[in-house]
Amino acid sequence: MTTDRRVNGAHLVRLLGDWRNGPLPTAHAGLASRLRLLILDGRVPLHTRIPAERELAEALGVSRTTVAAAYERLRSDGFLVSRRGSGTWTHLPPAGVSAAGPVATLGDGLLDLAHAAAPAPEEYLHAAAETAVTQLARFLPTHGYDPLGLVELRSAVADRYTARGVPTTPDQILVTGGAHHAFALALRALTTPGDRVVVEHPTYPNALEAIRWAGCRPVPVPFGPDGWDLEMFDATIRHANPRVVYLVPDFQNPTGFYMSAADRAAVVETTTRSGTTLVVDETVAELWLDRPPVTPVGLDAVLTTGSTSKAFWGGLRVGWLRATPAMVRRVGAARASMDLSSPILEQLMAAALVPRTLEVVSARRAWLRDARARLRSRLATRLPSWTLNSPAGGLAFWVDLGAPVSSSLAIAAEQHGVALAAGPRFGLDGAFERYVRLPYTLEPSSADEAVDRLAAAFLAVVEDPRNTRSASGVEMDVSRAARLT
Ligand SMILES: Cc1ncc(COP(=O)(O)O)c(C=O)c1O
Repeated sequence: MTTDRRVNGAHLVRLLGDWRNGPLPTAHAGLASRLRLLILDGRVPLHTRIPAERELAEALGVSRTTVAAAYERLRSDGFLVSRRGSGTWTHLPPAGVSAAGPVATLGDGLLDLAHAAAPAPEEYLHAAAETAVTQLARFLPTHGYDPLGLVELRSAVADRYTARGVPTTPDQILVTGGAHHAFALALRALTTPGDRVVVEHPTYPNALEAIRWAGCRPVPVPFGPDGWDLEMFDATIRHANPRVVYLVPDFQNPTGFYMSAADRAAVVETTTRSGTTLVVDETVAELWLDRPPVTPVGLDAVLTTGSTSKAFWGGLRVGWLRATPAMVRRVGAARASMDLSSPILEQLMAAALVPRTLEVVSARRAWLRDARARLRSRLATRLPSWTLNSPAGGLAFWVDLGAPVSSSLAIAAEQHGVALAAGPRFGLDGAFERYVRLPYTLEPSSADEAVDRLAAAFLAVVEDPRNTRSASGVEMDVSRAARLT
């Protein structure tokens, strides 16, 4: 498959960043491996046309032979396809890809630090599956299509909002295949190609991808040192006149920042004044660890997405959108071109699980607090040059590596058996090369092992003389980093 989507030489150079600083011996191997990472983690989307060898060679200031050898390697590994005379497109090998990113397969043998998602609370899932099976018979005489979702699940989700302080009725809930699907549907219903969508920077990578697939332009608003910079946010809204604003105010992915009630009110005032639709992603809102949550924003002007993925299990693929009944019908209508409706069995399971949210998340919180403390202490011992943030909830640390080596680290980590989401996945144009997101969702012995492997991978990266002086001129403290064994 090929598409009209293309990335030009200058753009690819920005995405490749400091690709020469990698753990590989030759320039073409380094270039191939960095480009492979960009394809696997979605920074260069699939089926995108990449520059001709000559164009990229000029843009990078390397010989055409280097680019040709890198492309050839990627073609033979299945990551590129070329059509004589017409161009080269990104691609995926048919099977057996082992790497971090949205296309990674389950069970590929890597320790997975690329996904911030915990295993299922098994006994709850089993019980919910049994309940669902016993209820299925009721639905078999019907056609089974329900674009807005089963009323029992919509009621359960509405009740959960009401319990959290936002009175909600079932007709305000649209059941979706996860929070991400809810956002993609909202984009489809609310935007037209060319519209601007304001996002936090860094942000959830798949949201960026959905914005691009909708033909819209992501407009980034950077964070200040302690969180949202509301002055910058206001100025961006005024200047960009976006159609949609997408925010993750609860334990933002990946920074872990938590927005105060006053700031939430200010954001809503700004978006309402400018006639912009605010989409609030509450995927991890229930997973506060240190501080009880503020009441969610429940105003008509705000669309909220939520999910069973983090409280229960990502494999359930059930989420929702909360909005006015009219907006729910409008966004629900956008399903006609996508998936028509959600599976009945999974909705029945979710209807059994959502009323048990409090008991499940309180056990999960205790587990996550321990996992967070254990990972912090293991990292402090094994990788003392890294600086961790202090997320008050959610599932991951956002780690400052001290030098812009995140993509090199992701490549080296894979060679050491760890899948990692490099910092630039969370940003635009190669930003966040100093950062990496590290989830505390692996069970303890795997997490310990993953840190040991990461320490070895980091050592390989910093021992490479090309990496000891970073692109930004920051001298890495190799003596500290080398105390890793
Ligand atoms: C901020 C954010 N939004 C959405 C999602 C995806 O949620 P779901 O599995 O419900 O589609 C995630 C998953 O990590 C997330 O962190």
